[in-house]
Amino acid sequence: MKNIFVTGCTCRTGVGQHLVKELAGKGDFLITCLVRQTSNIDWIDKIQNTRVIYSNLDDINSLVKYMQMQEVDIVINIAGIRKALNVIEAMKIAGVKKGIFVNTTGVFSKFRMASEEYKIIEPKMLGELQNNGVKFAIIRPTMIYGNGKDHNVRKFALYLNRHSLFPIFGNGSALIQPVYYKDVAKALVALVENEQCWGKAYNISGGTAITYRRFIETIVEALGEKVKFIHLPLQPTVYIVSILNKVLRSFPLKTEQILRTTEDRAFDYADAKNCFGYNPISFEEGIKLEIEELKRDGYLR
Ligand SMILES: NC(=O)c1ccc[n+]([C@@H]2O[C@H](COP(=O)([O-])OP(=O)(O)OC[C@H]3O[C@@H](n4cnc5c(N)ncnc54)[C@H](OP(=O)(O)O)[C@@H]3O)[C@@H](O)[C@H]2O)c1
Repeated sequence: MKNIFVTGCTCRTGVGQHLVKELAGKGDFLITCLVRQTSNIDWIDKIQNTRVIYSNLDDINSLVKYMQMQEVDIVINIAGIRKALNVIEAMKIAGVKKGIFVNTTGVFSKFRMASEEYKIIEPKMLGELQNNGVKFAIIRPTMIYGNGKDHNVRKFALYLNRHSLFPIFGNGSALIQPVYYKDVAKALVALVENEQCWGKAYNISGGTAITYRRFIETIVEALGEKVKFIHLPLQPTVYIVSILNKVLRSFPLKTEQILRTTEDRAFDYADAKNCFGYNPISFEEGIKLEIEELKRDGYLR
C-alpha cells in the first residue's frame, strides 16, 4: 500500500473529502489526514484505510515527526498555497520526495487582492521543490463549487433564491469557468496514478467557459427563480464604491471585488486532458447538483 499524507481533508469545498473517499475506495492507498483539533472529522471514521493525525501546518517539527512516523510516499497539500512552503520544508527534513500541491488560477489575476501573495509564493515553491529534488505536480483550480458549502456559487444561489434583482457591473461579458469539486478531486487522484504527468502545473477548470451574466442566469434557471438584472456602469460604480470605502471602513464591497467580476477567468484544461484524461462536467450540470445539495440541507426557501 502507498502512504498518502493529505492536508486540507476538511476543506469547505469538499475537494479533500471527495479525494479521500476516491483514494480509499481503490484499496491501494493508506491515507493519513492531517487535521486540527477544531476540524470537523465526523465523516472520516467511516472511511476505510484512512486515519487522522492532529497537528498544525504552522508547526514544522510536528509535520516532520508525523511524515517520518507514517513513512509517507506522497504528500497532497490541499490546505492551500499559503501553507505550501511549510509543507515543503517538512518534506525536505523528513526525506519525502513526492508531492502534489493545490494552488489556484488566481495567480494569473491582474488584481492584487486575488494574486499578490500567490505570485510571490508559487515561484518560491517551485524553487524549493527543484532544489530539494522533490518530484511534484501542481494543480491550479478555477473557482470551486458544488458541495453546497463552498463560499462561491453557494452565496450566489442563496442570494438569488431570496432576491429578485441582481446587479451586474458593466456588461457581464467577462468569461468564467467554475470547476465542480469532484472534478478537482478526480484530477488529484489521476495525478497520483499517473506520475508520468508530474513535473508541471495544470489548470483545472470546469467543462465550459461562460460569460459572467450567463453564469448568474444559469444559477437562476437551476433554482427555477425569476430575477431581473440591473447593469451598473462600471467606472461610476467603482468611483462611488472607492469613496464609500474611504468614508466607511466597514463597507462590505471593495473596488477590486467589482473589477474582478469583469476580468476573464476562463482557463484551458487541454494539458490535463491530454496527459491524464481530465474531463470535467459543465457548469449547467454542476449547478443542478449543487442546488440539490442546498435543497437537501434545507438552505433554499
Ligand atoms: N475555493 C475556491 O474556489 C478555490 C479556488 C482555487 C483554488 N482553491 C484551492 O483549493 C483548495 C481547497 O479550497 P477550499 O476553499 O475548500 O479550502 P479551505 O476551505 O480554505 O480549506 C483549508 C483547509 O486547510 C486546513 N488548514 C488551514 N490552516 C491549517 C493549519 N494551520 N493547520 C492544519 N490545517 C489547516 C483547514 O482545516 P480546518 O478548517 O478543518 O481546520 C481546511 O481543511 C485550497 O488549496 C485552495 O487554495 C480554492
